[in-house]
Amino acid sequence: MLVAPSILSADFGYLARDVKAICESGCDLVHVDVMDGHFVPNLTIGPMVVESIAKASTKPLDIHLMVENNSFFVDLFAPLKPEYISFHIEEEKHPHRLIQKIRGLGIRPALTLTPHTPPEAVEFLLEDVDMVLLMSVNPGFGGQKFIPSVIEKAKRLKALIERYNPNCLIEVDGGVNDTNIKALSDAGVDIVVAGSFVYQHPQGITVAIASLK
Ligand code: DX5
Ligand code: ZN
Repeated sequence: MLVAPSILSADFGYLARDVKAICESGCDLVHVDVMDGHFVPNLTIGPMVVESIAKASTKPLDIHLMVENNSFFVDLFAPLKPEYISFHIEEEKHPHRLIQKIRGLGIRPALTLTPHTPPEAVEFLLEDVDMVLLMSVNPGFGGQKFIPSVIEKAKRLKALIERYNPNCLIEVDGGVNDTNIKALSDAGVDIVVAGSFVYQHPQGITVAIASLK
């Protein structure tokens, strides 16, 4: 299992320190939640702050857009050379075009689904993406309760992936902890995002990441 801690749960007064801490504690990717106050009822960070995160990080960035006007935000973040940019399928009229654009910028394209969106919504896009991100909470905030139906959704998505693009990874984001991770792994999930579990673990970040792995 790959682990992508979400910096949304970091102390933003000590962002570089908190990014270095996850990188030195065995994380695989650094998950960056970009929220615009329109697609979700929260507002986070833009390219200036993400540039500081990129400088502090020794691991690839996984940028999760929760925004309207995805194409505009892809242009803002592409110069930072993240490994992945994921966008919400619910917010995009022409997802195939946006996937091609992200790929053309040398970044791995990924699709995100909110908890109500069925996996079949991305069936005919799977051949063109490197990852599908399944939200297991309503997007917008860290520290929410895990929605268990994502496990069934991951199983159905895995079957589609085996048919259309076995190289495509499944990532799950929201409320992940050392209790629900086994069911996610059994369902075929490759990467978990974890914010509060990692940053608020009583025994520290290294123990938290190790326990997820
Ligand atoms: C929520 C974000 C998540 C969030 C996860 O919209 O996409 O990445 O930070 O935080 P936890 O793990 O605390 O649910
Ligand atoms: Zn996220």
